[in-house]
Amino acid sequence: MSEANSYSPGLAGVIAGESAISCIDVERNKLNMRGYDLVDLTEGGASFEEVAYLLLHDDLPSLGQLAAFNDALLIERQLPDAVAHLLRTAPAKAHPMALLRTAVSALAYSDADSLAGDTSHEANVRKAVRLLAKVPLIIAAGHRLAQGQEPVEPRDDLSLAANLLYMISGEEPKAYAIEAMNVSLILYSEHGYNASAFAARVAASTLADMHAAITAGVATLGGPLHGGANEAAMEMMLEIGTPDNARTWILDALQSKRKIMGFGHREYKSGDSRVPAMKQAGLSVSQETGEDRWRQIAEISEETMLAEKGIFPNLDLPCAYAYYGLDIPIPLFTPIFVASRISGWAAHVIEQQDNNRLIRPNHIYTGPVGRTYKSVGDR
Ligand code: ACO
Repeated sequence: MSEANSYSPGLAGVIAGESAISCIDVERNKLNMRGYDLVDLTEGGASFEEVAYLLLHDDLPSLGQLAAFNDALLIERQLPDAVAHLLRTAPAKAHPMALLRTAVSALAYSDADSLAGDTSHEANVRKAVRLLAKVPLIIAAGHRLAQGQEPVEPRDDLSLAANLLYMISGEEPKAYAIEAMNVSLILYSEHGYNASAFAARVAASTLADMHAAITAGVATLGGPLHGGANEAAMEMMLEIGTPDNARTWILDALQSKRKIMGFGHREYKSGDSRVPAMKQAGLSVSQETGEDRWRQIAEISEETMLAEKGIFPNLDLPCAYAYYGLDIPIPLFTPIFVASRISGWAAHVIEQQDNNRLIRPNHIYTGPVGRTYKSVGDR
């Protein structure tokens, strides 16, 4: 087969590596995470911490292993001075994703294993735990400082999902809110060789540090075709405004060839396996808050997209209205995705560096050849 024949734009369908972390079972429309069905984890009442442990290790934790993991996270729930200073001196108008990307990179200034240049398996797990513990603090403190408010200290008695909500709002979160956040963090945690995980693996394959690879992951997640779609989907629903307007709005947008945010997926062609569990969480948020408008707009948009294009919603659509219902500011939606996906990226970095070969693909050259150099004055 010639190079040109084997080329697939966007690397669609290309097998770019091996992984024992997760895979999309397209036939059964499920996400297999180290042998577990992801939805079984949410339905069985797993905490995000359990799922993060599953990703960083080979299996779910025992009671004792989970307690030790939670203790390790708790010890790391504090920010180094340099990062706290960075957050305090950032311009208030900086996008939270830009701030988070920069702060994640700056965490390497003081990470003992990064400073020692240690990329061993054990050091990488320790770095991952530190990142998991610190990223929610960066998101919440960065947001509050930009609003002219002081950061709220995390509470030792709250889970990662509960602390995230607590540190953003400064108020004790209700049980339904913690539950919805926990489910979203589990569903967002890992998804195979997606663009951001691949970016993290490419960086890791050069033997760059965990923090460098995770920074590449954060940078890649931010775009609206990937994780940034949860913010873009909510902006779209706000633009639609009312359920009555949803069908016409979607039809007009399709007519003018607009991409409808929160719809479509490279791998799933008959629906995103994560959507039903997140819809359930979004429904309970609507019922608890008594505000169902955004969920209804999403449902009508879904019916219209299916009828017109046969395209299903992805996880970002129900996450968008669930987060909005929880009063989370829209610019924090994608950073919250990061707080979860750190676990998946870290698992990929660890797996890559445990059995490394530099990732360096080929390309088809489409530029000119044989040009003759003339000195600048002769051109
Ligand atoms: N709105 C309108 N049309 C769409 C959409 C959409 N959301 N998604 C795909 N299509 C159409 C394309 O226009 C194209 O039509 P055509 O063949 O007539 O040109 C066809 O479906 C195939 O689409 P591609 O863009 O080639 O699909 P690809 O696999 O490259 O892209 C992607 C997948 C990027 C997710 C795309 O569906 C999209 O842009 N969606 C909107 C952004 C989004 O929601 N991203 C979140 C992804 S999931 C996540 O990160 C959790």
